Amino acid sequence: MSTATTRIALSAPWIDERDEELVVEVLRSGWLSLGPTGPRFEAMVAAAVDAPHCAAVSSGTAGLHLCMRLAEVGEGDEVITSPYSFVASANCAIYEGATPVFADIDPRTLNLDPEATAAAITPRTKAIVAVDIFGYPCELDELTELCRHHGLMLVEDSCEALGARYKGKPLGAYGHPAVWAFYPNKQMTTGEGGAVTTHDESQHELLESLRNQGRLETSSWLQHGRLGFNYRLDDISAALGIGQLEKLDRILAARRDVAATYAQLLADVDVELPLADDADHERSWFVYVVKLPPGVDRDAVMRTLSEDGIATAPYLPSIHLQSYMRERYGFREGMLPVSEDCSSRTMALPFHARLAREDQERVATALRSAIA
Ligand SMILES: Cc1ncc(COP(=O)(O)O)c(C=O)c1O
Repeated sequence: MSTATTRIALSAPWIDERDEELVVEVLRSGWLSLGPTGPRFEAMVAAAVDAPHCAAVSSGTAGLHLCMRLAEVGEGDEVITSPYSFVASANCAIYEGATPVFADIDPRTLNLDPEATAAAITPRTKAIVAVDIFGYPCELDELTELCRHHGLMLVEDSCEALGARYKGKPLGAYGHPAVWAFYPNKQMTTGEGGAVTTHDESQHELLESLRNQGRLETSSWLQHGRLGFNYRLDDISAALGIGQLEKLDRILAARRDVAATYAQLLADVDVELPLADDADHERSWFVYVVKLPPGVDRDAVMRTLSEDGIATAPYLPSIHLQSYMRERYGFREGMLPVSEDCSSRTMALPFHARLAREDQERVATALRSAIA
């Protein structure tokens, strides 16, 4: 199954003949969008995360944007999210004229710190976008309670966490909307694509309308009941998604094995390994991110590994320090010290379901000597 390579890539999708067969079937059917494959894919996503409804969309970003509409986020509102995430977690609020507010993270989980989140709530807060970063479930109980107490909508950015579980149930099984992403570096892929799962029929109907140019269930093709978007997922992508979901358990198990191998190989290397699961949190392995000791030049380590033919990435920069964020909101260093410290010391190693053990050994050896 494993394939040793010269240049070790950061990630790789797992595409097999079954995926090809499903995609070709749709191509030959001539029904490339709004056909029967989309709903089949949606039913499988919903079943995988124990949610009654699923709306497939063109990306995780599109899904997050539509969730801002579900929360009726608009001009003058604030949306709290994690600074230690991909920019889309915050951009979705900006698309609707709201201001992103960042609460600092827990250095262990790298997810929103519930206490810092509570402290960031103001009378203008409308929603919390809680991220399950690197597939590790966020503190859902505390965040759900905060939202209930303050009348906020909780949106879960589970884009990196398909298959993760919190307190024994899959993410997505809790009542609030959850957003999923299927870019090729994710656990499963549709090329580009995403989905929003919900437990509320009216939310689902609104999502179906918004992603399809604001058409109503009763509209004819050129009648539009509201301002919408083209955030549809096409049937070719959905077909690939079906192939991926058919083997999701195998993909997730293989990724878990690769992570366990890294844990062994890196046990004697001076880095902090990803947080292990506990009774409440079961990670779905998205990337393998290690934290270097303070004082080690992370970028120099990455350069050394690159010279050895090993791809790495500086996962993740803090969102509030991106140039457009600084310019627009005046954010600066020191505002979110935990996130900023993690951003300066964390890096992603090559990681995917079929990464060869020899390649992992090469990575471990190179990292050990780069740090020494
Ligand atoms: C945490 C998080 N949120 C949102 C997204 C956006 O997903 P997409 O790239 O499909 O728009 C991603 C994808 O990288 C992500 O990792």
